[in-house]
Amino acid sequence: MTLIHSIDRYAVLGHPVHHSLSPAIHAAFAAQTAQHLSYEALDIRPDDFASTLHRLPQEGYCGVNITVPHKEAAWAFAQAHGRLSERAALAGAVNTLAWQPAGLLGDNTDGQGLLNDLQQRHGLALSEKRILLLGVGGATRGVLLPLLAAQPGALLIANRTADKAHQLAALFAPHAGSTRLAGCGLEEIATLIAQQNPFDLVINATSASLGGEAITLPANTLGADGFAYDMMYGKTLTPFLASQQIAGTKHLADGLGMLVEQAAVAFELWRGLRPASQPVYEHLRARLAQP
Ligand code: ATR
Repeated sequence: MTLIHSIDRYAVLGHPVHHSLSPAIHAAFAAQTAQHLSYEALDIRPDDFASTLHRLPQEGYCGVNITVPHKEAAWAFAQAHGRLSERAALAGAVNTLAWQPAGLLGDNTDGQGLLNDLQQRHGLALSEKRILLLGVGGATRGVLLPLLAAQPGALLIANRTADKAHQLAALFAPHAGSTRLAGCGLEEIATLIAQQNPFDLVINATSASLGGEAITLPANTLGADGFAYDMMYGKTLTPFLASQQIAGTKHLADGLGMLVEQAAVAFELWRGLRPASQPVYEHLRARLAQP
């Protein structure tokens, strides 16, 4: 029996996923743009992930967002059963799937979400700037190509395990254009700053905040007008942003804006309409601040 669904269905797939703000974000986008759709959070165990993706289009799903721990598995699924956007192919991780007339598309909207948050919400121009990116996991790989496309003057990937930073910088070197792209260990940052100018922007893409740990950077890592960004967010400053506040960094921002912006890019991919992200961002920020 074929079930006919009168509404286009979307979801976020994760494990766990109950904490996800994506259903609230997409419900707000749908209301704002008068789109008739549903969006749920589906808790899917890793063993059930591929079979779920085979099943969902038959049940009226037009697209899904993918969160921890499935982004790499979604990449592999899209590669095997559809196609990948260039930014997703290089990232090795997919955060958005769309079942389109031409077939399944795996995309990664995290990098564009980060750029939109930095450039539009925080008014940061990245061209020619010196950027320090901390970490080499999926969060970093997801944003590297869009960050390089913004043509910063220098992009240094620093990681606790230095070898992995060197390897990632080498992998993305063909896409660096005029940007000086390099990798190093966290403990090398102090030496590099002594030799070169301070950074304009530091982005924490490590998972250190998840364990409540702060990555403390050497003094003078950032210039006087420096900007510290954490892809994580929370009710209060993340451990990384708290340590940057103590260090006297002038501008601090967490990843709530990136979350809303990556969702807006996904929504546009699915529905062909760009929602206004700012009211949704403000609403979520106020909600997070509630006791
Ligand atoms: P994901 O793919 O989900 O982003 P991951 O591949 O485990 O997660 O990557 C986590 C990143 O955070 C890595 O760069 C990790 O550093 P290592 O490669 O040295 O493991 C980094 N990380 C995690 N905890 C950290 C900590 N306490 N201090 C510094 N870096 C940390």
